[in-house]
Amino acid sequence: MNTFAKVKQKARNILNDSRGSHDWEHTLRVYRLAEHIGKVEQANLEIVRLAALLHDIGRHHQDISNGKVCHAKKGAEMAREILKIRPDIRILLCTGHSDRMSAEIAQRMGIAGYLQKPVEIESMAQTVRAILDRPPSKETVAG
Ligand SMILES: [Fe+2]
Repeated sequence: MNTFAKVKQKARNILNDSRGSHDWEHTLRVYRLAEHIGKVEQANLEIVRLAALLHDIGRHHQDISNGKVCHAKKGAEMAREILKIRPDIRILLCTGHSDRMSAEIAQRMGIAGYLQKPVEIESMAQTVRAILDRPPSKETVAG
């Protein structure tokens, strides 16, 4: 099984138990839209597809804890674990407001970049460019 298939299987297993608007079907809708945009924008589709699969993996934990678990923080932790099979991939965390997640916490977790929604497309592009232009370091590589 290749890397993509392994990540997709893990994401599906996690999200199959999710309820409401952030279940596996939601992830598939986001995946298809992200893939479409990625093709138009000539993005690296491997990265776009992996990001779409992993974008809500912490939601289930937030749901079952009745909000005690921050989905952004949990999702970042889970993404790091899953991406150990590809340690060269850097993680950009983009989330809404959270009292339990911040750029500083993300950095301590080894997350390469952090953006809080709403995000202007120009800011997103600049952040992604900065992450890609930065040489890999222990702080920016998952693992
Ligand atoms: Fe989502």
